[in-house]
Amino acid sequence: MSKKYELKNLTSGKTSEHKAISGTIGPDVIDISNLTKEQGAFTFDPGFMATASTESKITFIDGDAGVLLYRGYPVEQLAEKSNFLEVATLLINGTLPTKPEIEAFTDSITRHTMVNEQLLGFFRGFHHDAHPMAMVSAVVASMAAFYHDTMHIGDPRHREIFAHRIIAKLPTIAAAAYKHTLGQPFIYPRNDLRYCSNMMNMFFAVPCEPYGIDPVAAEALDLLFILHADHEQNASTSTVRLAGSTGTNPYAAISAGVSALWGPAHGGANEAVLDMLDSIGSVANIDKFLSRVKDKNDNVRLMGFGHRVYKNFDPRAKIIRDMCYKVLQKMGKSNNPLFELSLRLEEIALKDDYFVSRKLYPNVDFYSGIIYSALGIPRSMFTVMFAIARTAGWVAHWQEMVSDPNMKIGRPRQLYTGPIKRDYQPIEKR
Ligand code: ACO
Repeated sequence: MSKKYELKNLTSGKTSEHKAISGTIGPDVIDISNLTKEQGAFTFDPGFMATASTESKITFIDGDAGVLLYRGYPVEQLAEKSNFLEVATLLINGTLPTKPEIEAFTDSITRHTMVNEQLLGFFRGFHHDAHPMAMVSAVVASMAAFYHDTMHIGDPRHREIFAHRIIAKLPTIAAAAYKHTLGQPFIYPRNDLRYCSNMMNMFFAVPCEPYGIDPVAAEALDLLFILHADHEQNASTSTVRLAGSTGTNPYAAISAGVSALWGPAHGGANEAVLDMLDSIGSVANIDKFLSRVKDKNDNVRLMGFGHRVYKNFDPRAKIIRDMCYKVLQKMGKSNNPLFELSLRLEEIALKDDYFVSRKLYPNVDFYSGIIYSALGIPRSMFTVMFAIARTAGWVAHWQEMVSDPNMKIGRPRQLYTGPIKRDYQPIEKR
């Protein structure tokens, strides 16, 4: 028997019935689409603390148990056995690709990595110290000016071309942003290299000498990308969906997602974690720092800790911490003082009642910056790396939304607390 909820207005006694909808796993959701008609009221849930904004088949998180599934597959298994491009197809298409499918996808991504020369010209308009996220969000939005003949969102082939273009070209755009900040020439993509090796080459090679790609670094990057590829309806994905729900072109929607990701409460946390570790300086200063974090009057947070959904270990943080050990060891950087500091900080915080009582655990970004640093990626590029990986998820969610024949424009309502109707006053009477 299907479950139902009754909502009663305790003043008027009026009741309304709302059906509960069950997903395959996870809590039921209460369908309140008839609430306003029945009760003349809206729901109020700032920050979406208890609101499922959409139905989705892509990613499942159980925040209490620390579970993360992409299309049903545990992220731990994908991290161990898969690779980023396979995970991208899984997220977008819903199934693990067959051999011919992954070969065709990889080939298509490899052959779409070059960007239009005119698009590269945009970088010259940015100041040399522009933040790479500012450049990336602007250049992604400007891609719409180049591909307007393949942007009919109702055409599945156009959607596929967009998906391949954005996944293929984002590393090239990111590398161009980085090279611009260095004042170095852009390095063109190489089709003989795999996705992450090609990215490292575009980031670090220079025309005047050969660049040896470190396979350990490329493998670490690939793993980080798998872990960052999707995370259901997070702030940037919800932004992509909301922007996309207007029917705008997909490049505009992804650019909106890049901008949302930039904030320190979201993807910008990886950059903020290393700034925080620098400011703490040494293990001896941890207690002093944590007292500031716990002081309500001091606006300091333990960056890389806490999550809206996870009230347990973020499964990605565990994998990344183990990876830190391996990567630093393999790269001969095992005496990394920032890693030592972060391990100690985690250990102390996890025994502290402030963090225990609030269920604050390390999130995906507590350790990711340490690996990026070990790979030679500068801090200002950390969130860009996150954006490249999350593009797979953004594309999957955008595709899922626009291919739904019942897609509606996202249009939330509000609790209005401004002035009631009043009459315009001439300037001399104000
Ligand atoms: N340091 C100190 N206290 C914290 C932290 C933190 N990192 N995170 C939450 N708290 C405290 C809050 O002060 C609050 O305490 P109170 O109940 O005494 O007022 C309580 O824990 C609940 O926190 P909220 O901010 O209400 O939780 P919310 O779900 O809104 O925020 C967020 C989640 C934004 C991730 C938060 O934990 C945070 O700011 N963390 C640091 C930034 C960060 O690492 N972001 C990356 C998130 S993962 C990602 O996007 C990839």
